[in-house]
Amino acid sequence: MVQGMEGTGMTKVASHTSISEIDDFDLSRLLDKPRLNIERQRSFDDRSMSDFSISGNIKAVDSFDNFNSPRGTRSGFNTPASSTRNSFEPHPMVADAWEALRRSLVSFRGQPVGTIAAYDHASEEVLNYDQVFVRDFVPSALAFLMNGETDIVKNFLLRTLQLQSWEKRIDRFKLGEGVMPASFKVLHDPVKGVDTIVADFGESAIGRVAPVDSGFWWIILLRAYTKSTGDMSLAETPECQRGMKLILTLCLSEGFDTFPTLLCADGCCMIDRRMGVYGYPIEIQALFFMALRCALAMLKHDAEGKECIERIVKRLHALSYHMRSYFWLDFEQLNAIYRYKTEEYSHTAVNKFNVIPDSLPDWLFEFMPCRGGYFVGNVSPARMDFRWFALGNCVAILSSLATPEQSAAIMDLFEERWEELVGEMPLKICYPAIENHEWRIVTGCDSKNTRWSYHNGGSWPVLLWLLTAACIKTGRPQIARRAIDLAESRLLKDGWPEYYDGKLGRYIGKQARKFQTWSIAGYLVAKMLLEDPSHLGMVSLEEDKAMKPVIKRSASWTC
Ligand code: GLC
Repeated sequence: MVQGMEGTGMTKVASHTSISEIDDFDLSRLLDKPRLNIERQRSFDDRSMSDFSISGNIKAVDSFDNFNSPRGTRSGFNTPASSTRNSFEPHPMVADAWEALRRSLVSFRGQPVGTIAAYDHASEEVLNYDQVFVRDFVPSALAFLMNGETDIVKNFLLRTLQLQSWEKRIDRFKLGEGVMPASFKVLHDPVKGVDTIVADFGESAIGRVAPVDSGFWWIILLRAYTKSTGDMSLAETPECQRGMKLILTLCLSEGFDTFPTLLCADGCCMIDRRMGVYGYPIEIQALFFMALRCALAMLKHDAEGKECIERIVKRLHALSYHMRSYFWLDFEQLNAIYRYKTEEYSHTAVNKFNVIPDSLPDWLFEFMPCRGGYFVGNVSPARMDFRWFALGNCVAILSSLATPEQSAAIMDLFEERWEELVGEMPLKICYPAIENHEWRIVTGCDSKNTRWSYHNGGSWPVLLWLLTAACIKTGRPQIARRAIDLAESRLLKDGWPEYYDGKLGRYIGKQARKFQTWSIAGYLVAKMLLEDPSHLGMVSLEEDKAMKPVIKRSASWTC
């Protein structure tokens, strides 16, 4: 709702906007659509880049697994981990977790539309933890989908799609059309008996950070819903098709960039504070890649769709090449950087980004095992952020941005550096923490992000679901089992904290909320994935052979 501002002739977006006032499409029509369409011969995921060949030299590909599975059943993914299906009684924590998850449900006009970030009445400061965050809802949504409760996910997807169509302003600046909110809140007016939605696109968020990841998560969730229910009719609606295109148009526009990676400001993702993740952070690049692939599978081949598809295919080629070549680090690559020459000009340069070997941090030489590797945090001119980030690396595995060799190496790293990356509570959000002078400069003296706390090397239980999914995909369920055991020894007892602090993740986070919904949902998703690995198809994409790696992974096995 755009309100006139008396006297100034200017407009301001009211934060209390009723969703009914800005309905730009008929939601009820969508909600009434039949849910199942299992007769279709070809699944979205059968489409791969080879179908949209733009360069003419792409080889035939193996098609993906079919997912025409009926609603509420499994996602059609055969994995070597199926043998680990455990036949034990469910852990007593599972029932508690479901109960807590259901307590966090938010309704809008009588229908569940999401889950609040934390149900922590003990905390003095609510801040925005009483809102439905798009990224936080993803594990909740997956838990519901795995449990056959699909309506809430559909409602969420449609409501957020409506929010996308709002006019978004921060002060006098208008945001891009496709931006999805970081979070929204439902206000119930018991007197008038009306519900209204207030959304935050960054205009209220601490630091006014841009939620770049929201749109990507939205697309990824739309595919998960489609995959899980077999209902393609939702993704095929003009509204969802438009929503995807709007999100991607924001990212695919041509500009001054010399890299195919997406340039972002600090705080644009799960780490929504100044933490030196500006530039080309791995989390955004991996989510961008996954969202592109999910959209590719869901976009229709009409005139508009075709154009978008072509741009996606071109970008995927460039992005996968760039990431696999320049973000990848293992022992051999580290040794190569260590011996880099600098100031190289022209196409023949080996050290393309002019990384100065003196910028290699000391901790890295100790941390890098002979066996294993990972995608570094960031790559830009003369700047490589060598920190390890969990979310980006796990999503790289799930989206098959990582080649099978790279995926295996990331899992090797988990095994080799268990204490550092998992410790006593899975999972470190990033490693290592930054301290002292560097902390002052990088975080701007952020007292919530002191070393080994919160986003600065803290341990986040929500990441357990991503680790578990990555473990199953790479055929290493035993790693997930070990991590889940650790979580089970404390999570419920500690009241489902948002994060843990300390080098080993032993302490409940200084300012961690209790009953943090994604800690609860993340645990449930991890459990359900391990119990029934066929759920993996919802959040995983098979390797697209059309994106064959140009370089082979260096032989980090041989040292
Ligand atoms: C914190 C986290 C962010 C999360 C939000 C709600 O701001 O950094 O990732 O979405 O809390 O839980």
